[in-house]
Amino acid sequence: MVDPIDDGGLLDKSRRKFLLYLWIGAQSILAALIVIPGIRYLLQPLYEKVQSQRVQLGDFRAIPEGEPTMVEYQVLQRAGYQIKQDQEFVYVLRQGDKLKVFSPICTHMGCNVAWNTEAGEFHCPCHGGKYNKEGEVIAGPPPKSLRQYPSEIEDGSVWITLGEKKA
Ligand code: FES
Repeated sequence: MVDPIDDGGLLDKSRRKFLLYLWIGAQSILAALIVIPGIRYLLQPLYEKVQSQRVQLGDFRAIPEGEPTMVEYQVLQRAGYQIKQDQEFVYVLRQGDKLKVFSPICTHMGCNVAWNTEAGEFHCPCHGGKYNKEGEVIAGPPPKSLRQYPSEIEDGSVWITLGEKKA
């Protein structure tokens, strides 16, 4: 007589397979829950935004009046997991007690502009962009004025805040 329930072990095999897939699925979810936050934690320094940084440029009286002057400063930069000190520069235009501090980075494609005393203009060496001493575009492809940094004078020293645009 044939047993109607006997399926030759077929039911057991498919049940075992189902349990195996269930176990693999559960292990994968568990691994993802552990691994993904770990990877995020390790990569976080690479994607952190540059924080605003207050930098001292030096004595206010040492800056000549009426013409943009290149002023160098030290700044802390994040490079992956390391923080290093870099030398950067800005152009400071002093007019009486007022200051304008320009980034030297051309707004077209990021080359460094240079102040040309004879022409009384900033010139960009890459594609011929020109700016007047107020940082406004007067020729070439730059789409907007040179960026300005907020500045203040404290105890005779000039301070700027990097990472922030002037309001
Ligand atoms: S990068 Fe300055 S004009 Fe192109």
